[in-house]
Amino acid sequence: MQLVHTIVETRDTIAAARSRGLSVGFVPTMGALHAGHVSLVEAARARDGFVVVSIFVNPTQFGPQEDLAQYPRTLEADVERCEAAGVDLILAPSVQEMYPEGFATTVHVAGVMEGLEGEFRPGHFDGVATVVAKLLGIVQPDRAYSGLKDYQQLAVVRRLAVDLNLPVEVVGCPTLREPDGLALSSRNRYLSAEERAQAPALYRALQAGAEALRGGGSGQEAAARAKESLASAPRFRVQYLETVDPETLAPHPQAGLPAVLVAAAHLGETRLIDNLIVE
Ligand code: PAJ
Repeated sequence: MQLVHTIVETRDTIAAARSRGLSVGFVPTMGALHAGHVSLVEAARARDGFVVVSIFVNPTQFGPQEDLAQYPRTLEADVERCEAAGVDLILAPSVQEMYPEGFATTVHVAGVMEGLEGEFRPGHFDGVATVVAKLLGIVQPDRAYSGLKDYQQLAVVRRLAVDLNLPVEVVGCPTLREPDGLALSSRNRYLSAEERAQAPALYRALQAGAEALRGGGSGQEAAARAKESLASAPRFRVQYLETVDPETLAPHPQAGLPAVLVAAAHLGETRLIDNLIVE
């Protein structure tokens, strides 16, 4: 496995792999890697001969009041995890390498980025879309692997790949959870013991909503059921908890499947997101 910090080295290493006839699978991350990230690497290894992981805490996707400064940076442990998972190349660029002086382009994906996260994290998806477009330009993978955990982000990445004619297949991968249902996230380490004990209530709430939908309830009823369920964990403060269309992410207030329950909530100072696809 190789760890590089520059775009030039990344391109050279990938060109060498391609000349050996290997397809390239790519997993973009912000590091602080956990088993969820590793599951994306495994999905990539199953299909591609050469697996690239990027580790870059992208400043442009954090709002001024958000956790950019505290975001965990654990490069040494991440490198070990990648090595064990069979990653071939890690790109860990500096902010300067990604955003040199004169950098002036923003990728803005309209529509799918507007509600939900887009409402509560203004500018977030511009930062995500721009850095993902850059990373796809640098790595030029055959496939990019992205978690369903960040459901709206996946929709943004799919849209930008189509709209910018990037020759990449975007592969959505299932959410890995703790045994009690909490979705793995780099931010879970912010939770106090007491918060951690309440955290699985978010997934349980989504499951309660899903049950309502499967029982023929409307999207609106399902969201209300989920909110009721989450009220049992009083430390949660909900930002949104809604039923949306799996493709457009527009509100899905009526009955009928498929639909996705999506939620964001603060638990103490920590912001958690999760979702559940109901087929
Ligand atoms: P990060 O939060 O590090 O996530 C990297 C990838 O891991 C994303 O595709 C995310 O959906 C996936 N992931 C996170 N938790 C997961 C879980 N529990 N199960 C399965 N997959 C999971 O998302 C980002 O970084 C950034 O926004 C990025 C796309 C890298 C752009 O900066």
